[in-house]
Amino acid sequence: MRAVALKEKRKFEIKEIEEPISKNGEVIIDVVMAGICGSDLHYFETGEPKGLILGHEFSGHVVDPGSREDLKVGDLVTALPISPCGHCEACESGNPQYCKETWSDAVGLSLTRPGALTKRISVRPDMVLKVPENVSAKEMALVEPTAVALHGVHLANIKLGEKVLVIGGGIIGLMSAMLAKKEGASFVAVSETNPGRGKKALALGVADKYYDATKEDMIQEVMADTKSGFDVVIECCGNAGAVTSSLMMVKPGGTVVLVGVATGPISIPTVIAVMNELTVQGAIAYTKDEFEKTIAMISSKQLEVLPFVDDVVSLDQVQDAYERLTSGTDQAVKILVDPNL
Ligand SMILES: NC(=O)c1ccc[n+]([C@@H]2O[C@H](COP(=O)([O-])OP(=O)(O)OC[C@H]3O[C@@H](n4cnc5c(N)ncnc54)[C@H](O)[C@@H]3O)[C@@H](O)[C@H]2O)c1
Ligand SMILES: [Zn+2]
Ligand SMILES: [Zn+2]
Repeated sequence: MRAVALKEKRKFEIKEIEEPISKNGEVIIDVVMAGICGSDLHYFETGEPKGLILGHEFSGHVVDPGSREDLKVGDLVTALPISPCGHCEACESGNPQYCKETWSDAVGLSLTRPGALTKRISVRPDMVLKVPENVSAKEMALVEPTAVALHGVHLANIKLGEKVLVIGGGIIGLMSAMLAKKEGASFVAVSETNPGRGKKALALGVADKYYDATKEDMIQEVMADTKSGFDVVIECCGNAGAVTSSLMMVKPGGTVVLVGVATGPISIPTVIAVMNELTVQGAIAYTKDEFEKTIAMISSKQLEVLPFVDDVVSLDQVQDAYERLTSGTDQAVKILVDPNL
């Protein structure tokens, strides 16, 4: 079957790979929708590891339920893409995101387990979740990034009436803004360097205000709107400029949640965190509970995720989709891939 594999810096190739068959009770799934994630863009930019088949956000139909007796052929499912060991202290405390094994055999994030940029995938049985009947395959492909945002917002510990700034209006930032409002924030702003995305935050109704992060006087505007800075800043970019800006835009004693992933060491003025006694909180992935809650919120219509989808493309259009998403100017935030197109 055809699969999109990472070839080199900013280049994919279409490869033929073998169709998976169920072993160790694994569930075999025919992919219906796969999402392109901001983390995937980092792999695209570096071209490493070569041969990686991306696609850790997906939904699909069960072809072989493996050891999952509660599933049948044809069921619509999604899955946590991670591979926690299940028996270490982290796993036993319900925090698989701390487990040392979590990324070692992750779907679409490791060389050992191809992701959903292909027709058929094999997934660990304990990670597969059945989709409620009223939820579509498109919506299910958005559960993973929504759960990332939910985890960050939980860790931000937002109190009713607080002012929250989200730095970066990619899918993680926009979802974080949406959820911050649901947590009771009275004012939610998004800052962006890409005006198309900034305006999109307003159009989608997830932010009360958009700050143009390329403007040097953004800090003055923030201080005019908030007196001494935001109560909480959620950083969703992972570069030095954005992390520095998050330290500067939060009020003394406030909280900064770092969701953005810097792929190497970056230089930031930690003295701001010291002088202002900031709480700097990292956030990675999600718990299984948060993943399940995200599905429940989509099913109960508490969360509307479809408006975030800009486009659905074929495997042959993946190269172009990645170029758009890394252009810094394209308005698209979320592009899904349908391998059957
Ligand atoms: N912690 C986790 O578990 C987790 C999970 C998924 C993604 N991520 C990371 O979160 C980040 C966001 O993911 P995404 O999918 O939304 O990515 P994305 O690349 O689509 O969005 C990032 C946005 O930040 C904007 N930006 C860059 N520098 C900025 C600055 N200085 N000020 C304001 N805006 C700026 C860009 O224009 C872009 O729109 C990425 O680093 C990704 O790797 C983390
Ligand atoms: Zn993702
Ligand atoms: Zn473990």
